[in-house]
Amino acid sequence: MYIFLKIFFSFSLLRTALAATAEEWRGRSIYHLLARIITDRFALPEGADPTQCNPGDQTFCGGTWNTIRENLDYVQNAGFTAIWISPVSQNYEGPRTPYGDPYHGYWISDATKLNSRFGTADDLKALSTELHKRGMFLMVDVVVNNVMGLTTDLNDLSSYMFKQKSQYHPYCPIQWGNRTSEQDCWLGDLKVPLLDVNTEDPTVVSAYQDWIKNLVSEYNIDGLRIDAAKHVQTDFWPSFCSAAGVFCIGEVFGDNIDEVASFQGPDALDSTLNYPMYSALTEAFAIPGQLNTSAITDTMEIYKTKFKDPGLLGNFLENQDLPRWANMSSDPQSMYNAMVFNFMSDGIPIVYYGQEQGFNGSADPWNREPLWTSGYNNDTTAYKMIATLNKLRNFMINSTTDTDTDWLHSRAEVLTTSAHGLAIMKGDVISVLTNIGSPPQNLSTAVYTPYPNSLRMTDVLSCTQFVVGSNGTLSVGYSKGGQAKVIVPSDLLDNSDLCGHVDEVEQQSQGQLASTAFFELRRPSATASYVFLFGITFLGLLCTAVGV
Ligand SMILES: *[C@@H]1O[C@H](CO)[C@@H](O)[C@H](O)[C@H]1NC(C)=O
Ligand SMILES: *[C@@H]1O[C@H](CO)[C@@H](O)[C@H](O)[C@H]1NC(C)=O
Ligand SMILES: *[C@@H]1O[C@H](CO)[C@@H](O)[C@H](O)[C@H]1NC(C)=O
Ligand SMILES: *[C@@H]1O[C@H](CO)[C@@H](O)[C@H](O)[C@H]1NC(C)=O
Ligand SMILES: *[C@@H]1O[C@H](CO)[C@@H](O)[C@H](O)[C@H]1NC(C)=O
Ligand SMILES: *[C@@H]1O[C@H](CO)[C@@H](O)[C@H](O)[C@H]1NC(C)=O
Ligand SMILES: *[C@@H]1O[C@H](CO)[C@@H](O)[C@H](O)[C@H]1NC(C)=O
Ligand SMILES: *[C@@H]1O[C@H](CO)[C@@H](O)[C@H](O)[C@H]1NC(C)=O
Repeated sequence: MYIFLKIFFSFSLLRTALAATAEEWRGRSIYHLLARIITDRFALPEGADPTQCNPGDQTFCGGTWNTIRENLDYVQNAGFTAIWISPVSQNYEGPRTPYGDPYHGYWISDATKLNSRFGTADDLKALSTELHKRGMFLMVDVVVNNVMGLTTDLNDLSSYMFKQKSQYHPYCPIQWGNRTSEQDCWLGDLKVPLLDVNTEDPTVVSAYQDWIKNLVSEYNIDGLRIDAAKHVQTDFWPSFCSAAGVFCIGEVFGDNIDEVASFQGPDALDSTLNYPMYSALTEAFAIPGQLNTSAITDTMEIYKTKFKDPGLLGNFLENQDLPRWANMSSDPQSMYNAMVFNFMSDGIPIVYYGQEQGFNGSADPWNREPLWTSGYNNDTTAYKMIATLNKLRNFMINSTTDTDTDWLHSRAEVLTTSAHGLAIMKGDVISVLTNIGSPPQNLSTAVYTPYPNSLRMTDVLSCTQFVVGSNGTLSVGYSKGGQAKVIVPSDLLDNSDLCGHVDEVEQQSQGQLASTAFFELRRPSATASYVFLFGITFLGLLCTAVGV
């Protein structure tokens, strides 16, 4: 049986060879799972009044690096392996602006100083140390494109890292769609202008390189999320990221795949946030909505020719610039199905803090709710589902480390599409997704798989058993509503701690040659590591996008 499986799997797995450069990046940076945190909104210090944080006030609520450190169990118990925090640099300190105070951390004044609102250098180091002790990674958001100002003139630059006029582009409002203008003109608006740093100026380029090299080494940072990356010329990034020496994922806002893809590669960044797939997921799953699953299959098809490495894209459903999923879509099953796609297809899953609590705030500032009002409830459907998906994903990564059968390097393929959903397969994992929502329906989907007749499989989300039928079909019904299914050959789950599969490998390996062969196929590795993050996105772009 196991020998058969081994041969079967080696033929059936859908693999794509990767370019060497992508491999080099991957070797340098193994961030796979991201959980995003807004530092100010994640946790309160002891004794603070938890009732005083209203996102509409656009001001500080009191979260710090220390309170993140004190509440990491909540993140780690959900299976996350990294966090992404708000920018750590000093922000504008002054009278309240028409858009409130810089609680989000994106209104940089001097990048070389730390933001004292969030703690001291020792606090940040303690957070980094604690994460590493837990085998987790720290990703820090950095803002390079701009600093925050109160006027458009460049006469007093004393509070900034760059003090020469020539180190900024002169003021002009952005003409959207004109790439030069998007890069040289100013984000923000006349109420809160964001001075556009002249990233072509050699003094700027070298000062930024020195700064990032020092920041990364001083605080032991494992990765960078780059704010407003598309507002800086692409050729700025390779030397910046190489000075940093860590993984760089950039925010390239918008669903133009050509544009987003142009920021991934040796001439740009390691990776970008996956805005194109976000758009496709909303088109496919949001209820009410277009319910058009072709948006997903088309995007997956286009990926193949456009992105250098889809496996490094940052997959998300929410961030601080977008309305929460629950604000856009009335049926929670729509979020669960879309979330499964983000975890079980190519890319690094990113969960925005509060998504696991079903927060429903609309656009900025309502989507930056304090997390503490949730009581850090780890019993919500979303929290538990994320924990299961993380466990399976970490298990698949951990147990497939040979380069030819490695889960992370396999490419997700579409198995079946139907009027009400789609099924994808990545490595050995089949995800059957639907947009019919919660009400039970007398519907079923036949998914054609490469698996043999009679193979036992398990849906890890419900622990339901499936048996493969003739011609490799799996029949999935929706008589209990439109739940996502994540179906894996039951034998592969041995030792996964999923659906009661604990320590079975050890029992089977007692003197059984066949299980040795099986074990070779699924040898766990101690070296695999992963990352995840909670975080925040960017404000200047956001302000512009929403016209503030
Ligand atoms: C949920 O939280 C409680 C108390 O904080 C903790 O004891 C328990 O282990 C947590 N459960 C999970 C699944 O994380
Ligand atoms: C694009 O923007 C640049 C910089 O502002 C400007 O010089 C140029 O004329 C614009 N191009 C077009 C076609 O408007
Ligand atoms: C679904 O999306 C695809 C593009 O991904 C588009 O070609 C098609 O027209 C859409 N169908 C509907 C009904 O909107
Ligand atoms: C969306 O958010 C707004 C503001 O927070 C709220 O008033 C509204 O009820 C939300 N809608 C949904 C469907 O959650
Ligand atoms: C949004 O969430 C709040 C807080 O959990 C809840 O009271 C409210 O009913 C929700 N709104 C909608 C429209 O679901
Ligand atoms: C479901 O549909 C099938 C065929 O359309 C029908 O035979 C069956 O009675 C239906 N079941 C229910 C519970 O409606
Ligand atoms: C067998 O599976 C293939 C896809 O793998 C499908 O196209 C074909 O229709 C199936 N045949 C039957 C008889 O179900
Ligand atoms: C990965 O495998 C190693 C060695 O078997 C084990 O110690 C570690 O806990 C595993 N990690 C995960 C996330 O399964």
